[in-house]
Amino acid sequence: MTQLVKPIDTASLDHLETASLDELRATQLKRLQWSLKHAYDNVPHYRNSFDQAGVHPEDIKSLDDLGKLPFTTKADLRDHYPFGMFATPMSEIVRIHASSGTTGQPTVVGYTQNDIDTWADVVARSIRAAGGSRNDKVHVAYGYGLFTGGLGAHYGAERLGCAVIPMSGGQTEKQVQLIRDFQPDIIMVTPSYMLNIADEMERQGIDPRELPLRTGIFGAEPWTNDMRLALEQRLGIDALDIYGLSEVMGPGVGMECLETKDGPTIWEDHFYPEIIDPVSGEVLPDGEYGELVFTTLTKEALPVIRYRTRDLTRLLPGTARPMRRIDKIVGRSDDMLIIRGVNVFPTQIEELLLKIEQLSPHYEIEVTRQGNMDMVLVRVEASSNDVARDPVACEQLGRELQHAIKTYVGISTQVEVCGVEEVMRSVGKAKRVKDLR
Ligand code: DLL
Repeated sequence: MTQLVKPIDTASLDHLETASLDELRATQLKRLQWSLKHAYDNVPHYRNSFDQAGVHPEDIKSLDDLGKLPFTTKADLRDHYPFGMFATPMSEIVRIHASSGTTGQPTVVGYTQNDIDTWADVVARSIRAAGGSRNDKVHVAYGYGLFTGGLGAHYGAERLGCAVIPMSGGQTEKQVQLIRDFQPDIIMVTPSYMLNIADEMERQGIDPRELPLRTGIFGAEPWTNDMRLALEQRLGIDALDIYGLSEVMGPGVGMECLETKDGPTIWEDHFYPEIIDPVSGEVLPDGEYGELVFTTLTKEALPVIRYRTRDLTRLLPGTARPMRRIDKIVGRSDDMLIIRGVNVFPTQIEELLLKIEQLSPHYEIEVTRQGNMDMVLVRVEASSNDVARDPVACEQLGRELQHAIKTYVGISTQVEVCGVEEVMRSVGKAKRVKDLR
């Protein structure tokens, strides 16, 4: 009789994940030199920008030499819309994704079969770092389609040999039905949509803590450690952070390890990270906050060289793995609000409101201008309608949050505590800020 086993070789995921730093750095340098030559030889934009900077791939003799090369930005990708930054002919491309962004023209990314395999490997590695294995059922509620979340998670979970439930985003009632009936061990979804799903579970009289669900692999948007605690307590799971961006690959550029929960380990054998000063562009030492920059080391279809992510964080030494970690993303430089001269990130406000028990994690921030003054309104839902119906309690909670924001962030705000479901819900990335200025 034929033996029915999933033909998966997970041992192949291991080697560089746990290799010594010496071996890792040597491999990175070799791969970097390949990637630079590949970009220079096949993408006119890189040839021009390297030539203009007076550097040639052969001048890069060490990882530190990378700093001699010019940055790549989202604008470069947009200027070569749709396929002008691809380094391989269309006959080699097997997948195209795009992110819509705010300005209308999407950013387009492409993958060869080898790229898709690498991506599946790093996502498989990520799920394994979260404690997942082939024995697990994985419910994917990231959106499928042009967004990289759904398909990226899907191929990785399949690569690890998990049973994948490709639910995609939306249809919240059905999400709950499938979670109840199929009993997945792992869910992959944005943390803000996870909260909506948890609300729906409670509406249907299901105690999320009673479900077999063990782990949440949450990402695609900034979320705080306080949000982690809120999700873990409410759902009775481990909540882990997965990081990524389409220009570099998609989900799985980095993943937090279950045993340490101390920020995503960057899978540095494929994605070389740097932190730069966002203003001067100078490379900063590990441990200092700045803008995260990536150079792909193995990507064929769309190599990116010193790609500026606009994500603000810092690089930290490895703990669960030899590779470096990033700290939780504070925010994107384009989401930073400047309120009367003070820089504010939505995550700072999230952290404070989650410390107040009778407030829920559903919030939005509206910025308007009255005369020359920036006005900030924080709308946050009460934790229950009982609280929301008590105007004295709401007023008191509002004052408490207002005071905390003034003390810790340094800005005056108005706070409105509203009823359950009064803040707009997302089924993917939450939109926290409405800037009406
Ligand atoms: O959001 C890829 C992804 C899908 C990552 C699913 C994780 C899970 P983009 O749509 O290109 O790709 O958006 C990338 O989202 O530059 C960050 O600003 C933000 N982001 C992604 N993951 C995290 C995270 C996907 N774990 C942009 N924490 C990135 C904070 C994140 N921000």
